[in-house]
Amino acid sequence: MEQEINTSKPSERVAAGKDVIIINRRSFFGALMAIGTAGMGAFLSIPVLRYVLYPLYAKASGTEWSDVGDMTEFAGSTSPVRKTITFAQRDGWREVVSAQSVYVTRGQQGQLEVLSAICPHLGCSVSWQKAQDEFVCPCHGGRFAPDGQHVFGPPPRSMDRLPTRVQGGKLQVHFEYFRSDVPNQEQLS
Ligand code: FES
Repeated sequence: MEQEINTSKPSERVAAGKDVIIINRRSFFGALMAIGTAGMGAFLSIPVLRYVLYPLYAKASGTEWSDVGDMTEFAGSTSPVRKTITFAQRDGWREVVSAQSVYVTRGQQGQLEVLSAICPHLGCSVSWQKAQDEFVCPCHGGRFAPDGQHVFGPPPRSMDRLPTRVQGGKLQVHFEYFRSDVPNQEQLS
């Protein structure tokens, strides 16, 4: 079937017995304006959509630094000190305040470090056993040295070290969650 697009004298074409698609100037510009308006609407809605959907793709991990304690508190420490910290977490549109245990300890060069108390095996809470001079996990018997190095048992890596900083004389930590039962520290989003 023959098809043509013609913008002038449609009556002659119809009279000639041909199929004709008639596009006059008014309908052409109308269609153009409709496409332009739809495109502009879509373009302007991008920032609004990004704002509304932000909580869905934002990270669910902690969003702020938490105080662990005054630096003077740890100045003379020779064994790990357990502390409970609080931090805000965003979960979708909700903001949740969580509490977690951490240990302030010393690294191999004597520097202060903060370790997560969450066992890297399957997530139980590790505790410091002064008599043994080790961290011990009650679930499957995992053991760690005072600096968090893995010593014994099923945990596939050492205890997880957290980012720290000192602000106004206070030791602060940025709490993060890590994937369980993998050999390397992989942060969860
Ligand atoms: S959860 Fe700690 S050793 Fe298994």
